[in-house]
Amino acid sequence: MADKTAKLHLNGQDYDLPLLSPTKGPDVLDIRKLYGQADVFTYDPGFTSTASCDSTITFIDGDKGELWYRGYPIEQLAAKSSYLEVCYLLLYGELPSPTQMEDFRARVTRHTMVHEQMHNFFRGFRRDAHPMATMVGVVGAMSAFYHDSTDVNDEWQREVAAIRLIAKLPTIAAMAYKYSIGQPFVYPSNDLDYASNFLNMCFSVPAEKYEVNPALARAMDRIFTLHADHEQNASTSTVRLAGSSGANPFACIAAGIACLWGPAHGGANQACLEMLREIGTVDRIPEFIARAKDKSDPFKLMGFGHRVYKNFDPRATVMKESADEVLDLLGVGDNPTLQVAKELEKIALEDEYFIEKKLYPNVDFYSGIILEAMGFPTAMFTPIFALSRTVGWIAQWKEMIGDPQNKIGRPRQLYIGSDRRDYVDLKSR
Ligand code: CMC
Repeated sequence: MADKTAKLHLNGQDYDLPLLSPTKGPDVLDIRKLYGQADVFTYDPGFTSTASCDSTITFIDGDKGELWYRGYPIEQLAAKSSYLEVCYLLLYGELPSPTQMEDFRARVTRHTMVHEQMHNFFRGFRRDAHPMATMVGVVGAMSAFYHDSTDVNDEWQREVAAIRLIAKLPTIAAMAYKYSIGQPFVYPSNDLDYASNFLNMCFSVPAEKYEVNPALARAMDRIFTLHADHEQNASTSTVRLAGSSGANPFACIAAGIACLWGPAHGGANQACLEMLREIGTVDRIPEFIARAKDKSDPFKLMGFGHRVYKNFDPRATVMKESADEVLDLLGVGDNPTLQVAKELEKIALEDEYFIEKKLYPNVDFYSGIILEAMGFPTAMFTPIFALSRTVGWIAQWKEMIGDPQNKIGRPRQLYIGSDRRDYVDLKSR
């Protein structure tokens, strides 16, 4: 309920607009009745000032650099929790009891294999396909394999779809990778934890024994946790919009994966590492900084800036610590790409342009460095983001479907095209 209102004075009339108060964050002006009452739309390309829904899942304070999942700060979850526990928290709203955790782990674990017929589906792709392209196709195709969890009006089917997606995305991402390098698919190992199983499916081969390094598995798990949700970002809003029409959950998550792929969003981790390699040596950094500042050059420093964080990205702080640990562990701290990254970070943080525009390294700046050190090719960076974010997408989708206020998403526009005109026959033009 709104206890405050704002007044809009327009064309000689006054309109009361309710102000909704959140648990945290700025008040929200409720304009739902505005068009009906005043015959005007609001205009907000890029949704820089628009709340598209209410949500209880994730909170971000961009000025303070805070990120909470269900009220728990990301730093505490990254240090003390595990990705599967975070999945439970995001999906059900509370941290699990030991029995609930065991039950959830068992349910997810039992769904890690994909339908055997799906192997043939993978084989239809070209070997040089980007794993994100394969994932968009294969995850969308899950609705052709799992008919018993596509009815969005059945709460049980929604639950089964959520578990299937969380369980199978690592398998699908690893299969996309194995296919692209011509190695045999590795089946999931249910005796391993979630992150170790993923590493095993990516890096083991039938011909050799492979032991997952527990420290790397922990770092992998933390990467999953840090990417698990991020309120109404572009891909999550895409999932919600697709879901608002009643589309099945697999189709909605495929839409989210497609949106995430873009270099301004999840594709930035790959783009960032490619940029670091292109810079190559520390002495070339000023040239790239100058390009980033040049208005006539579309180049941006990948891994810098964020729509919401204007102080620092709390995920980047944790990721940076993790990067240092992993590089030390693997003894690759003096790798040239890393040297460029460290120097670029230092120079950009001291540069007036970046300070004035509040551009800080974001999560993608450091995640690529860790993933490269672990042995992942750049093309796998965004698929790893996608598999981590799946729980956030599905939690947000479930929240939306369960909301009695849910309506199909249908923005309006400011039409600036031609006025009405009459068709002219081809021969008369
Ligand atoms: N390098 C150079 N200049 C930048 C950068 C950058 N990375 N980011 C923003 N700016 C400038 C931009 O040109 C603009 O300048 P002006 O005010 O003079 O026009 C100003 O800073 C504000 O930027 P914006 O593009 O209006 O901000 P936005 O909120 O629309 O975009 C962003 C946010 C993340 C898309 C953008 O900062 C960007 O493209 N960064 C590089 C890509 C990247 O790292 N993306 C990952 C984001 S975090 C993970 C995720 O969400 O998936």
